[in-house]
Amino acid sequence: MSLFRQTLLFLSQRKELEEFFKHNPLAQQARSRFVAGDTRAEALEVTRKLNAEGFSVTLDYLGEEVIDPDQAREASEEYAGAVEEAAAAGLNTGISVKLSHLGVRIDEQLAFSNLMNVVERAARVDRFVRVDMEGSDLTDVTLKLVSRVRQSTPNIGTVIQSYLRRSDADIASLNREKIPVRLVKGAYLEPEEIAFQNEEEVVLYYMRLTEALIHSGTRPAFATHDTKLIEFVIDLADIFGLKKTDFEFQMLYGISNELQKNLIADGYRVRVYLPYGDDWYGYFMRRLAERPANLWFLLRHWKK
Ligand code: FDA
Repeated sequence: MSLFRQTLLFLSQRKELEEFFKHNPLAQQARSRFVAGDTRAEALEVTRKLNAEGFSVTLDYLGEEVIDPDQAREASEEYAGAVEEAAAAGLNTGISVKLSHLGVRIDEQLAFSNLMNVVERAARVDRFVRVDMEGSDLTDVTLKLVSRVRQSTPNIGTVIQSYLRRSDADIASLNREKIPVRLVKGAYLEPEEIAFQNEEEVVLYYMRLTEALIHSGTRPAFATHDTKLIEFVIDLADIFGLKKTDFEFQMLYGISNELQKNLIADGYRVRVYLPYGDDWYGYFMRRLAERPANLWFLLRHWKK
């Protein structure tokens, strides 16, 4: 992992810088590329447009690392309310949640109840809940709570990161439990002992994990903008006789728009991950870290 990326991921955890960025007009403008807006209404409006273009959506109410139980309950209500309102409006969207937003740093049981609230209310309107994967200190608890919820409600899945060396074992147990997986490379700062640092290794492991998922029968989601991985998934799905509807691609709002449209035109399913809300700093910094050009663009315009 480059020093540049490490620095930005480190800064993404610094509260001091958060205040500076959040009040900077240029950063606010730049974030609009990646975020639908501050409000649920804005997110539903963008969802409507994406649906009309053939995309399904997963909404993400931005927020993480909550340490106040009321804020965690408020997040749970917002996630559940958003999915209910979207379903009532006939929109094709599920929801992605973060356990650190639902209070797992405060208390595991609190996060479980908050997650259950979202999953049960989403189930009533036939919608799917994806639990995002955060830093590796939350991997075990995320898998544990997802598995616990899955015992009573099937409309839940989670995310596996191909930079983590443990991921093939995790996929094997998720496959046994028939829990749908979204496969990503991984967006956090992780030490060498547990995570590949070299991009080639992350890509090779992603390919190996793709093979494990393609046979899972759980409609896996391949979340990447990396064209060589997308081609690999398409070829492998073809070799094993999967239909285009047996899996989906997922991409982030505002990234690789042409690629997203081309896949839809070729008959593949593409789901757009659509964040909204005013707590956008951590998400925004992870997007900057993924691509140096994003930061250079910001700095170039900063001077003017
Ligand atoms: P890579 O970073 O190699 O990008 C390939 C190409 O995509 C780049 O060359 C560039 O053209 C474009 N691109 C990628 N990122 C860009 C950016 N920020 N700005 C502009 N262009 C960009 N991670 C995690 O740890 N937990 C999670 O739950 C999730 N959830 C998630 C959902 C979805 C739908 C996606 C697409 C991604 C995630 N991620 C995630 C993030 C993931 O781990 C990873 O950091 C990003 O997807 C970037 O990796 P790529 O696979 O796209 O490859």
